[in-house]
Amino acid sequence: MNDAKILLSGVKPTGRPHIGNYFGAMKQFVDLQNDYECFFMIADYHALNFVQNGKEMKGLILDLALDYLAIGIDPVKSTIFQQSAISEHTELSWIFEAITTVPYLERAHAFKDAESRGKEVSVGTFNYPMLMAADILLYDPDVVPVGQDQKQHIEITRDTAEKFNRIFGETFKLPEALILESVKTVPGTDGQKMSKSHKNTIGLFASDEEIADAVMKIPTDSKGVEDPKDPETDNVFALHKLFTEGPEFGELRDKYEAGGIGYKESKEILIKNIVKFVTPIRERRASLEKDIPSVIEILRKGAKKAKERASEKMADVRMKVGVTLDK
Ligand code: ADP
Ligand code: TRP
Repeated sequence: MNDAKILLSGVKPTGRPHIGNYFGAMKQFVDLQNDYECFFMIADYHALNFVQNGKEMKGLILDLALDYLAIGIDPVKSTIFQQSAISEHTELSWIFEAITTVPYLERAHAFKDAESRGKEVSVGTFNYPMLMAADILLYDPDVVPVGQDQKQHIEITRDTAEKFNRIFGETFKLPEALILESVKTVPGTDGQKMSKSHKNTIGLFASDEEIADAVMKIPTDSKGVEDPKDPETDNVFALHKLFTEGPEFGELRDKYEAGGIGYKESKEILIKNIVKFVTPIRERRASLEKDIPSVIEILRKGAKKAKERASEKMADVRMKVGVTLDK
């Protein structure tokens, strides 16, 4: 295990995950946990930019821990931890802020989006990529699996590592983003990117009724049952690609192309398959929810492991920048 490559990723605890989060990022966590030594972080201090209510924050952190466990992250194989439990993250982000210029961070998409919405942007939102660079670089990961929208943050992380290495000497490994081409943007029920902020999501832990309602709302064109349909432009078919497997998928594609299936029937098949997929993880989550002390214990153990690695790295950083006097 010691020679295993390292993987680190994180999710902000800002609300219930949807199938875009799952296929774009979280599913890879589960798939990759046998191939890497994995660190899965709950980015609670990043979430603080959006969630400013203590009770709500506490609930959201536990929710995300339950989500991680329910989708199949195994706390024996992988380290699950809270960002806020490891003070080295905020300490290192300060050092990165000292070597980064304002014009450089002004080019970040997330900042530009926040600014274009006309609100006064918090310093935390502006510095967001510095904390993310610290999250990553403290653990020397080889890969960081994320959705397409995080690509720029990984580039900023690499730039920051290079800059630090140039100024203070070789310290950080340059990580690679791992972005799955096939699911880089899961479409929502309106055909746009699925996102909490677009209100077009299908929840990963949704009830059967919520799934049926969301799928029935997907807009389609006005073609009748017998008309041939283009599977590549239909929003319903886009989701079949994620949930419908084996011969059923091939038959569906043939019927779309030749005519002989209406959107209503296609939606009913999709609902059946999403429900089949969601049911076991929904059940696993419900059973984990009954034992919150065990979840807290998993996070405590995870923090202990993460802390060992982060504090060792931070000792090296402190020495490189010259604040350690006794070595
Ligand atoms: P949201 O856009 O719903 O607020 P987040 O920004 O919290 O989602 O994203 C959490 C993770 O899920 C990120 O790695 C992001 O890239 C991924 N992700 C979010 N939406 C999608 C989507 N529609 N398709 C693919 N990946 C996504
Ligand atoms: N910024 C990421 C998001 O919005 C969450 C995140 C924080 C993260 N720190 C990270 C992802 C470190 C990967 C690695 O989804």
